[in-house]
Amino acid sequence: IKRFPLRMVHGIPLMEPIAQNWKHVEEFQARPDDLLIATYPKAGTTWMQEIVDLVNNGGDIENAKRAPFHIRVPFLELAFPDSGVEILNKTPSPRIIKTHLPFQLVPKSFWTLNCKTIYVARNAKDNAVSFYFFNKMNGVQPEPGPWDEYLQTFMEEKLSWGSWYDHVRRYWDEKDKHRILYLFYEDIKKNPAREIRKVMKFLEKDLGEEVLEKIVHYTSFQVMKENPMVNGSTVSSLIFNQSISPFMRKGEVGDWKHYFTVAQNEVFDADYQHKMVGTTLTFRTQISPDAT
Ligand code: A3P
Repeated sequence: IKRFPLRMVHGIPLMEPIAQNWKHVEEFQARPDDLLIATYPKAGTTWMQEIVDLVNNGGDIENAKRAPFHIRVPFLELAFPDSGVEILNKTPSPRIIKTHLPFQLVPKSFWTLNCKTIYVARNAKDNAVSFYFFNKMNGVQPEPGPWDEYLQTFMEEKLSWGSWYDHVRRYWDEKDKHRILYLFYEDIKKNPAREIRKVMKFLEKDLGEEVLEKIVHYTSFQVMKENPMVNGSTVSSLIFNQSISPFMRKGEVGDWKHYFTVAQNEVFDADYQHKMVGTTLTFRTQISPDAT
């Protein structure tokens, strides 16, 4: 196990094995009933995977525990070359497929077949903190270095999978041109029932309030943290070293306040204004009791 270097693929820094197998990724043939879950890393991918899997199977937690999260939901760009291809082919339809690729790098077949996509976005500051701890504990991701240096790399858009800013903006711009349900981590945290209802509607599954309540429960942070099929304990400790930082770390909105200094926050905000100019996309960066 070694930390992979990053290689540029169409202007996006990606881990070496993804770059090496780029042709397979690019030419990947989706199926019309594939559901893509797209996120910038650490925006709540695993959370949405579990929600969608439970919605698909009518809230049956035993069924959702049939296999670890990374087997049930193949990771598109890392599924090549070895056994991963097999996982993709063997996954019965309707497949749920995860990707962190920015919109423009998603295999074209997803868009030509008009596949549904659920995009989850998370505010930049919490997203950056979460990715920092993930890069520390993950044995194949690049070493993040000290927090200050890492935050600089985030702002320079040089992390694995590239720019957070471009990622969230581009899917936002594309959402009405394709079948993209654009959700926010902060909203799911604030009102999971409401957001899961949106997922049900999008997937055309009318499961009723009782099943909805069950899904809210099974996908709460505390329950997922205890669930071995989603808490990362099925992943080799050479890849996920959970003694450095748990995969289910905190699951909160506003945790960035414990890591950003006042000076870092000022620099970050000024740079953010500049990078996000002209977009209608807005995020909440703290828990706001009155917002619904
Ligand atoms: P933190 O590091 O801030 O705790 P991803 O699945 O994309 O890797 O995202 C991981 C982030 O989502 C982590 O954030 C993780 O704790 C959080 N997360 C996972 N399941 C969650 C849940 N059920 N509720 C809230 N946050 C969750």
